[in-house]
Amino acid sequence: MSTTRIDGKAVSQKIKDQVKKRVDRLKQEGIVPGLAVVLIGENSASHTYVKNKKKTCEALGMRSDLHQFPDTLTEHELLSTIDELNNDPAIHGILVQLPLPAHIDEFKVILAIDPSKDVDGFHPVSIGNMMIGKEAFLPCTPHGIIKLLEHYGIDPKGKHAVVIGRSNIVGKPVGQLLLQKDATVTYCHSKTEDMESITKQADILIAAIGKAKFIDRSYVKPGAVVIDVGMNRDEDGKLCGDVDFADVEGTASYMTPVPGGVGPMTIAMLMENTVQSAEYGLT
Ligand code: GUN
Repeated sequence: MSTTRIDGKAVSQKIKDQVKKRVDRLKQEGIVPGLAVVLIGENSASHTYVKNKKKTCEALGMRSDLHQFPDTLTEHELLSTIDELNNDPAIHGILVQLPLPAHIDEFKVILAIDPSKDVDGFHPVSIGNMMIGKEAFLPCTPHGIIKLLEHYGIDPKGKHAVVIGRSNIVGKPVGQLLLQKDATVTYCHSKTEDMESITKQADILIAAIGKAKFIDRSYVKPGAVVIDVGMNRDEDGKLCGDVDFADVEGTASYMTPVPGGVGPMTIAMLMENTVQSAEYGLT
């Protein structure tokens, strides 16, 4: 079977072009969408992600404020920073880059963000609204995956979607969004027995495991759509996903590459959430 490579770079560019138009319209009203990014410590992956977010904001004409702290920052100091950003009318979105140092309670920090500025979609209010299908900031990676499927005309309705991974950031919410699109959803995780027999039933397989090239073709039904959320380094230090692309290519109908698949969509959806938040200020 020939496999179509899903082009996340191209789809994300289309979304960013639309966001740029919305930014330009807001500027005519005297509003510059503003994203505050809080980065703590020296995690090199986090630094790379944050740099890309800032660069994209600036390319789209949005304001991007980086609040960078050493990992000696106390939880109290972080909560004070969030409080200031909550009350700053020039800031429409607040993103605290995860993971946080061990002495800071991640849940407390997420709870402190005003839900009207929760462009990551991690606050329990955002998650609750998403679960019941009400308007909410949707978490960026899961929303980006849904947008990719839409772009390629892949309708989850009636399909069996299998999600491998149950993180709060990706696995759990992407399953919920697929459920809202009328898929039948199964979750697999590290304690799942005989995972292959389940993933082999998937019409849509989402791999959000965090293990380099874990999924080979023995996990994949011929003709399945395979979405790879992984961001790992292989034995040569090269960026790779959770799916062994070379092995699965030819079995799947559609596949996302790493890099250039889901990754660029995450940033595009963050930009969309931020501009949407700024637009609320108009009404
Ligand atoms: N760390 C890894 N991915 C993300 C993300 O999407 N948002 C935040 N805030 N931290 C992350």
